[in-house]
Amino acid sequence: MGRVVVVSNRVAVPRRGEPTAGGLAVALKDVLKASGGLWFGWSGETRKEPSPEAKQLRSGGIDYATIDIADADHQGFYAGYSNNTLWPLFHFRLGLMEYDRGEAAAYRRVNRQFAQALMPLLGPKDTIWIHDYQLIPMAAELRALGAKQRIGFFLHIPFPPFAVLSALPDAEQVLKDLLAYDLVGVQTKHDLGGLINCFQEGLGLSPDATGGVRGEVAGTMRRTQLSAHAIGIDTRGFATIARKAAYGPDTQRLVASMGDRSLIVGAERLDYTKGLPHRMRGFAALLAHFPEHLNRVTYLQVAARSRNEVASYRNLRRELDQLAGRINGDYAEFDWTPVRYVARAVARDTLAGFYRVARVGLVTPLRDGMNLVAKEYVAAQDPEDPGVLILSQFAGAAESMEGALIVNPLDAVAMAEQLDRALRMPLDERKERWESMMRGLEEQTATRWAESFLAELEELPLPEQNLLWA
Ligand code: G6P
Repeated sequence: MGRVVVVSNRVAVPRRGEPTAGGLAVALKDVLKASGGLWFGWSGETRKEPSPEAKQLRSGGIDYATIDIADADHQGFYAGYSNNTLWPLFHFRLGLMEYDRGEAAAYRRVNRQFAQALMPLLGPKDTIWIHDYQLIPMAAELRALGAKQRIGFFLHIPFPPFAVLSALPDAEQVLKDLLAYDLVGVQTKHDLGGLINCFQEGLGLSPDATGGVRGEVAGTMRRTQLSAHAIGIDTRGFATIARKAAYGPDTQRLVASMGDRSLIVGAERLDYTKGLPHRMRGFAALLAHFPEHLNRVTYLQVAARSRNEVASYRNLRRELDQLAGRINGDYAEFDWTPVRYVARAVARDTLAGFYRVARVGLVTPLRDGMNLVAKEYVAAQDPEDPGVLILSQFAGAAESMEGALIVNPLDAVAMAEQLDRALRMPLDERKERWESMMRGLEEQTATRWAESFLAELEELPLPEQNLLWA
């Protein structure tokens, strides 16, 4: 097996004093370490005239190479096309999607720049694995420069059906760009259905008996395998972190501040896909419809600020500030604050302890590729006294977490009913539900995900053998 080369916009370059990396980064580092691999991506810096060469660093048996993005392209690539066009579109939020040709061109230019800087670092036997919506055209750009290696792509966010994707003026281009890959992976069967539907309706291509589509890239026919690989977490590792953190000072302070009240917890980036206003309204509905919980329960929402350069994120921040204030104004007592809203990031280890002591994990995105918070909440529980996961039907995780209470986040009263049910759930039922989810999580880890994707990619014929002339 050759070297694995991972490419993603954000690169988890080790930096002294930084908190431990998340499960996904750890799993990728494991496969990179095993093959003496390279992780390539954006440095996080912009520059007037970026150098065409990548900055390189070796650490822990892994090579890291990063490039700066041109000042002039950063806005169009990152805040524009990636996060104000593709992100809302792929999350089914057409009303929030904006499109600008100049931004689409900047997105393409940055992808070309990525390809140009990576090309000289590649060996002929490398297997290249590109991640997420920021880098869809990168394989096409690499192929145009002559790359003959196997190239896989994994989309961490949902893949919508063509009825949604076709709102994008470049929809056909996106699909053609995907044909430059040997393998395109998505999170769930549902997303795979979206992807197949897009190829069928957008390009008239149907999958063959083994799940691949054949289409033309730069004058030659290629075959692209399509498949679903559900991402997981380092389940055992996270359980250990949570067990330790529960005795740490932060969790102890939280517990002391709660008195004998129950804790409901939510934690994510402050992003409109996470359904935070809906969640707050659901909690308010609990207090309105089930007054026996007044002064008996507290909802802690951690919302790490994100993508502040995009207006829809700033608007969401304002909306949440108002809603949290409003609910507290309506229901608080002089010794009880119903909503504790923390609009900044909290360290992962600290969160693990909070999850462990929370009676309910409330994970209710309006649309989400997988949602690893749902998995982390479950992994963090005390097996003798586990809490209850309430999970949106629109999270990819709902496909495999049958022990959760599933809810439609658009229905505030349904959320209130599930919250009431979770808060009153007897120990036996909590244990049964938790054990069934934990069994799945122990099988479907992040490492397993990375290995299964790479194994599928490496079993495919080399692109040269795979070329089929029309
Ligand atoms: C999601 C995306 C990632 C992205 C992350 C953080 O998880 O799938 O690709 O890196 O959000 O967003 P940011 O814009 O800060 O990179």
